[in-house]
Amino acid sequence: MMASKQFKAFEHAGWESVVSEYDAAFGHLTIQAIGPLLDAVGAGRGMRLLDVATGPGYVAAEAAKRGAGVVGVDLSAPMVAEGRRRHPTIEFREGDAEALPFPADSFDAVVMNFGMLHLGRPDEALVEAHRVLRPGGRVAFTVWAKPPETVGFDIVLRAIQAHGNTSVPLPEGPPFFRFSEPEECVQTLHATGFAHPRVTTVPQCWCLPAPDALFEAMRGATVRTAGLLRAQTDRALDAIRTAVRAAASAYSRDGIIELPMPAVLASGVKSDS
Ligand SMILES: C[S@@+](CC[C@H](N)C(=O)[O-])C[C@H]1O[C@@H](n2cnc3c(N)ncnc32)[C@H](O)[C@@H]1O
Repeated sequence: MMASKQFKAFEHAGWESVVSEYDAAFGHLTIQAIGPLLDAVGAGRGMRLLDVATGPGYVAAEAAKRGAGVVGVDLSAPMVAEGRRRHPTIEFREGDAEALPFPADSFDAVVMNFGMLHLGRPDEALVEAHRVLRPGGRVAFTVWAKPPETVGFDIVLRAIQAHGNTSVPLPEGPPFFRFSEPEECVQTLHATGFAHPRVTTVPQCWCLPAPDALFEAMRGATVRTAGLLRAQTDRALDAIRTAVRAAASAYSRDGIIELPMPAVLASGVKSDS
């Protein structure tokens, strides 16, 4: 419990300070999963949908375009403020995925785009999603596929292994790629009360303007990976940057770096009984 509190505080502080950086580096990447995510819960007109870990509200905005009544919730106050600024007609609330500020049976669908891997107690978030869903309601979430499929992570983690130190003291959280395993998604959905679990892969491409942009995105717009990079010596960090630049250059097409970054999409249904 203590470890998960420290991890939450670490993630919370991180996400309070990288709003514009996250949007610039990841905004055009994570939106690629929104269509399949919303399809997995059948998002449409008249449905009440909760977007957990909404960030700047990308998913919430697309769900609203489909005619759903949407609420976005996020732990980071600056993220919530950014969601409200961009989408003044959508309701955004500050709140914790592991203790949702909503009554039982209040949504038809709960979605979470790239949120699970930032939670100290992701199982608890699914228990909460189950509680706030009406019977028959659907949950869906995305996470990153594991490296080497997610080339951006593969390049950076390999460079840290080769030139730096991967066992630096950071608040301990669940394995970053835990839900990249389809079987883990299925088991956890079942264990938290969901029926008919489904797991698919969503192809995504991270288009970056220059080979250095990958290192800068990981260092300036993430929380856990940035923490790992911050803990390296200056000398190691220089070597890591050089290795990342060289590896990313191999993915250049017409001057743009195109990195495959597939997502794993999992969904389930709250049984009627
Ligand atoms: C990788 S961003 C995902 C943002 C957005 N859903 C997207 O599609 O790009 C992760 C988000 O999770 C939020 N977050 C982290 N821990 C949370 C928690 N315990 N409860 C709610 N949101 C949380 C962060 O503030 C951040 O906005």
